[in-house]
Amino acid sequence: MVTLINPRSFNPPATAMAAPQPAVQGRLTIQAQTIAPETTALRCLDWDRERFDIEFELANGTTYNSFLIQGEKTALIDTSHRKFQALYCDYLDTLVDLSCLDYLIVSHTEPDHSGLVSDILALAPDVTIVGSKVAIQFLENMVHRPFAHRIVKQGDRLELGNGHTLEFISAPNLHWPDTILTYDTGTQVLYTCDVFGMHYCDDCLVDQVPEMLAADFQYYYDCLMGPNARSVLAALKRIEPLTINLVATGHGPLLQHHIPTWFDRYRDWSQALVATETYVALFYAEDYGHSDRLVQAIAHGIERTGIAVELVDMANVHPHDVREILGRAAGFVVGMPPQVSGATAHPLLSTIVTTASPKQAFGLFESGAGQDEPLYPFRNQLREMGLTEAFPPILLKAAPTEATDQLCDEAGTDLGQWLNRDRTVKQMKAVNSDLEKALGRLSNGLYLLTARKGEVTGAMLASWVIQSSFKPLGVTIAVAKDRAIESLLHVGDRFVLNILEEGNYQGLMKHFLKRFPPGADRFAGIATYTASNGSPILAEALAYLECEVTSRMPSGDHWLVYCQAQAGRVANPDGLTAVHHRKVGNHY
Ligand code: FEO
Repeated sequence: MVTLINPRSFNPPATAMAAPQPAVQGRLTIQAQTIAPETTALRCLDWDRERFDIEFELANGTTYNSFLIQGEKTALIDTSHRKFQALYCDYLDTLVDLSCLDYLIVSHTEPDHSGLVSDILALAPDVTIVGSKVAIQFLENMVHRPFAHRIVKQGDRLELGNGHTLEFISAPNLHWPDTILTYDTGTQVLYTCDVFGMHYCDDCLVDQVPEMLAADFQYYYDCLMGPNARSVLAALKRIEPLTINLVATGHGPLLQHHIPTWFDRYRDWSQALVATETYVALFYAEDYGHSDRLVQAIAHGIERTGIAVELVDMANVHPHDVREILGRAAGFVVGMPPQVSGATAHPLLSTIVTTASPKQAFGLFESGAGQDEPLYPFRNQLREMGLTEAFPPILLKAAPTEATDQLCDEAGTDLGQWLNRDRTVKQMKAVNSDLEKALGRLSNGLYLLTARKGEVTGAMLASWVIQSSFKPLGVTIAVAKDRAIESLLHVGDRFVLNILEEGNYQGLMKHFLKRFPPGADRFAGIATYTASNGSPILAEALAYLECEVTSRMPSGDHWLVYCQAQAGRVANPDGLTAVHHRKVGNHY
């Protein structure tokens, strides 16, 4: 039995496991145990972590689990959080000659699992990193050094020898777009990273007492997996045929004794969530051209509006499932798939045409691989059937850039907002209660928030703005969650708050309230100059503040974005700030 600094050491010892050999560093500890032939779990125990992301309060700390398989070839599955750097690397060094490590499998690139990828690359410069196409792209931006890599997709296999054949399962959106699961056909261990995990720190390796884990298992599902319930169901379907001895999760205890129960809970919760929600089906061919990147950006834009998405890989779906998924969808997007040799058109495009309904909205994009089915004939068929095209076709003429991501993201948001239009109009026309009328008498100034991040720009008319601290000088802005600009307002982002002038704001307001097509330049025809933080300053503004976001928190259907004001200037000392008066408080 492991004896660590352990405030909750109530579980019985794991059976049939090799003797653990703990190393201790304050309240961060590490545990290694054999979990299958030639397979070691390396669990970093973070006893005191109180919060995960902004909204995820932890009652029982957490663990970051990684795994080492030593067949004829050696593979490490995931790393750990950066805070475990010395503890993890030193311990791993006692288990394996890192200079001979063959593969590092990256299930998902969030820093709690990939925080030590750079360290592993330094110790094992010849290692091949294995991950989804999206994961490899993310890693290239994270590690800033060349590395050997292998992109894997659904069904791909990797031989390690001694009976260890790894099979990869694509699980996009659980809970990041880059996620893969790995199944060792020899040991029948399924490595799931975040999926089926829980933030629960204890030195007991597996799920011997499920009653103690149930609440944390559900809380974790609600926070991380529930928002992607459709993707949970898709992943469950993909792992259904597997015989699984052990679920090796990235957080908390591994699942060994009650696997069907844990899976059933995910299935039941997800089915309940998807039963009534409005969703868009996204059809695309995984790992074809740039389809993965584009579809993720579109999905992000749709989800911002509160509409769910269901990703459908056209290379791995039966026409019956296409009919079922599309039949219940409010709208759909198609990334044009590769032409099928000998066929007049991709068979699934015909299935989509025969299933689609005039009530639905749609959008199309090209994947940029050069062998796409032609987009325009398909588009014409859908339009002739009376479907609404939510955004113009996205045609890829070169490799995607940040601007392409923004275009796709905004296209997704346009589609989501179109699907929400009835609800929005209903809300605006709703009988106004005395409470809403009273709330409407809160008045604010009028502002234009302008931002530039790399190639991406954005602008938003804002009135819910308030100074909220003296030291430091700080401002809080409420931003609706379905606004595309929220992606430019994360912690560390910089922008300009332009303060509009009474009697001189109508032209700017009219311009920026226009509906822009996805990816359009909001500043064309508007006089601007560049702030020291890179964002546009509007030449006609009464004053401006250069701001940096230092925190944000959810507030119902808005984000509260708190920023420090770092510079500012008044253009007209005699001018007054424009004021926004309303009559009701249920819309702007
Ligand atoms: Fe545990 Fe999404 O990282």
